[in-house]
Parts: sequence; C-alpha cells; structure tokens
Amino acid sequence: MEFQDVVRRRRMVRSYAEDPVDPAVVDRMLHNATRAPSAGFSQGWGFLRLDNPRDVRRYWAATAGEEALADPDEWLAGMVRAPVLIVPCSHKAAYLERYAERDKGWTDRDESRWPVPFWHLDTAMAALLILQTAVDAGLGACFFGIPPARLQPFREEFGVPEDHTPVGAITVGHRSADPGAAGSPARRRRRPLDEVVHRGRW
Ligand SMILES: Cc1cc2nc3c(=O)[nH]c(=O)nc-3n(C[C@H](O)[C@H](O)[C@H](O)COP(=O)(O)O)c2cc1C
Repeated sequence: MEFQDVVRRRRMVRSYAEDPVDPAVVDRMLHNATRAPSAGFSQGWGFLRLDNPRDVRRYWAATAGEEALADPDEWLAGMVRAPVLIVPCSHKAAYLERYAERDKGWTDRDESRWPVPFWHLDTAMAALLILQTAVDAGLGACFFGIPPARLQPFREEFGVPEDHTPVGAITVGHRSADPGAAGSPARRRRRPLDEVVHRGRW
C-alpha cells in the first residue's frame, strides 16, 4: 500500500469481526514500533502483547469490569471482539539514565530539563507505527485510553512494573461489517491547514 493511502485510510476502528489475526502481522507491528525515533535513542518503551482470547478477556475484565462486560455499551461490545491488544508503556527512568551518560551529561537527572516528557512522546510515536502497520496489513486498530482508576488493577493483572506507564491501549483486528460506536469525527470537522499551520509567524 502506498504511504499516502496508509495515512489517509487510518481511522480508529471500534468494531471488529472475531476472525483471528495472523501472528506474523502482530510481529511486524511490534517490529515497526521499535523503529520509532527516540530521544538519545533511549528506546524507553515496552509493549504488552495480548493475543489470545483468555488474555484479551483478562484485559477487559481488569479495565472495564465484569459488570460492564455482562452488559456492554456499543463501544465496549465492538472493542471486546478484537482478537489482539497491545499496550505501549513508557519508561521514564530509561531516559533519565540515558541522559545522565557522558555524551549527554544531565547527571542530576533533573526532570525539569525535559521540554516535554519525551518518554511518552516516543512511546506515542511507536504507537502510531503500530496503527499504520495495521492499516498497511488491511486490518483495523484503535488507540484508546485506560481509565486512571483501572490502571492499578491492570498493572496487577499483568505484572506491569511500576516504572512503566501505559500510555493507552491498542485493539487490533479485522473490521466488522457494522461500523460500531461513532468516534468524535462524526461530530467534529478536521481542522483546516490554514487554521493550524502558522507560516513564518504565529
Ligand atoms: C491519545 C488518544 C486517546 C484516545 N482515546 C480514545 C478513547 O479512549 N476511546 C476511543 O474510542 N478513541 C480514542 N482515541 C481515538 C480518537 O477519538 C480519534 O483518533 C479521533 O477522533 C480522530 O479519529 P481518527 O483517528 O479515526 O481519524 C484516542 C486517540 C488518541 C490519539
């Protein structure tokens, strides 16, 4: 698929068919994720891969709860059918350590040196590569947030270490025929370029 087509076709998919996903495609998504740029080549990320029905069910039980699963809304009903979930996590300590090395020299590990949290930024770039790889493979994917109140149960269920922060989660699968829950683009327009691009001066 042409790159422009990947960019144009990438939309968040919130309703999946139950057909399995070729594990080789998931391998490729994760491989491509690690091709993302990272500050100082810190690569302070980790990816939890959930690719069997039991683990996917455990994810939803921990983050949505059994009650919601028993009576899911349209969003949840479409999302739980995705056969694969990937949870990209950022690892701040890897950045503080990397930038304390001799070539960077931030030995005080002072977080105020960072203009924005590059650990989240880099992990988000990796997440976009996962989304784009899904599109390239003819699959659908959706990046979505994990509710803060559910983070601890999620961590405990899957043994995610405290120094890794899940930045969100990604469902991956084949699109179902029904469109599923409408996303915000159904209610909002894409902002035109002349509104968001400031050429030469803001
Ligand atoms: C950081 C981030 C968090 C998001 N969280 C959710 C979410 O919790 N649930 C959801 O359905 N979509 C979520 N989305 C998807 C956005 O709603 C979607 O990207 C946006 O409406 C534009 O639509 P498109 O990606 O299909 O072009 C999230 C996207 C991003 C980048």
